[in-house]
Amino acid sequence: MAKRHAATIAARAGIAEDTAFGAVTPPIYLTSTYELEAFRQPGPYDYSRSNNPTRDVLGEALAELEGGAKAIVTNTGMSACLLALQLLKPEDTLVFPHDCYGGSYRLFINLAQRKHAFKIQIVNFQDTDWAEQVRLAAPAMIWLETPSNPLLQITDIQAVCQLAAELAAKVVVDNTFLSPVLQQPLALGADIVVHSTTKYINGHSDIIGGALIAKDVAIGDELKWWGNCLGLTGGALDAYLTLRGLRTLSPRIRLQQENTLAVVDFLAAHPLVAKVYYPGLASHPGHAIAKVQQSGFGAMCSFELNAAPEYLYDFFAALKYFTLAQSLGGTESLVCHPATMTHASMDAAAQQRAGIGATLVRLSVGIEDIADLITDLDKALQQVAKRLSV
Ligand SMILES: Cc1ncc(COP(=O)(O)O)c(C=O)c1O
Repeated sequence: MAKRHAATIAARAGIAEDTAFGAVTPPIYLTSTYELEAFRQPGPYDYSRSNNPTRDVLGEALAELEGGAKAIVTNTGMSACLLALQLLKPEDTLVFPHDCYGGSYRLFINLAQRKHAFKIQIVNFQDTDWAEQVRLAAPAMIWLETPSNPLLQITDIQAVCQLAAELAAKVVVDNTFLSPVLQQPLALGADIVVHSTTKYINGHSDIIGGALIAKDVAIGDELKWWGNCLGLTGGALDAYLTLRGLRTLSPRIRLQQENTLAVVDFLAAHPLVAKVYYPGLASHPGHAIAKVQQSGFGAMCSFELNAAPEYLYDFFAALKYFTLAQSLGGTESLVCHPATMTHASMDAAAQQRAGIGATLVRLSVGIEDIADLITDLDKALQQVAKRLSV
């Protein structure tokens, strides 16, 4: 089949494929087990931890979207991360960035230090000598998250993959922040992509899920085996809801991105905002690379409040259309304080190394009308100004 565009893959996933009744929308197979065709004659499915038709439709769509050979749909984003780590042995080294998602950071550190599952080396991929640092670590696996969470730092995926090929290391990219609509790491040389499908892929903040997409069939098969062995695979109902969300991924993320551009312009011009982090800004250190390896700058941005941290109470309390909550990527706008929320599992020193300060605020911009979003931010900043003048 000719290569299809992302919007078409997502909108058509499993559509008009039902052979039983001609249902246009794929049915939900809420079954844990499957009847054998006869004694010693198994059918195509036997037990839903191993395989489930609804989950398979989602997996096939995600594999096609990321340009991979195989996808494994998992029950959380963290289980997709855990699954990728099954390729490592105790003598192997995992290199990961100093500013990855707090939960991934916690998983890597604890599996290494408490379980001796592998060795670790943290690298700041923004350092000019990052390649030297990676070379010295001689890793078996390099983990990337670009744009990073929460400062939206950009790493050159292709450059890292070239070095990884020299070192015979696998490259895993957490593509949660952009989705395959805006970035396709496998085409840039990565071996594995992981997603928290909880975020943009599902897009409606009503399930927790994950996915791992492997470029190579053999790696995909091995990880599928581990997914079943460890029991990390996702449920059919979650897969169905994720498929429903996935259909609108392309238009959602483009509208969210359009809103983010306007929010960033507003924040960048505001006196109570000390700094805005968004790779779409020409002043962002990763702008040039983002322009080449991404097909858009995404719908996440962060900023530093230009006031003492206690004024954040006023700011958050005044917001109406940015809900103070963890997570990102839904149709509703969310605001979070990374230091005490998403990145609380990093200790103070690690937060400082990652540049996560007390006045840092992260926004996940939704699909609300942009005029309402800007008015909301403006009012909340006015509230801070009022308190500052008392
Ligand atoms: C970049 C990134 N990766 C992985 C995860 C973990 O995903 P989940 O919460 O679905 O387990 C998150 C969750 O916030 C995330 O932001």
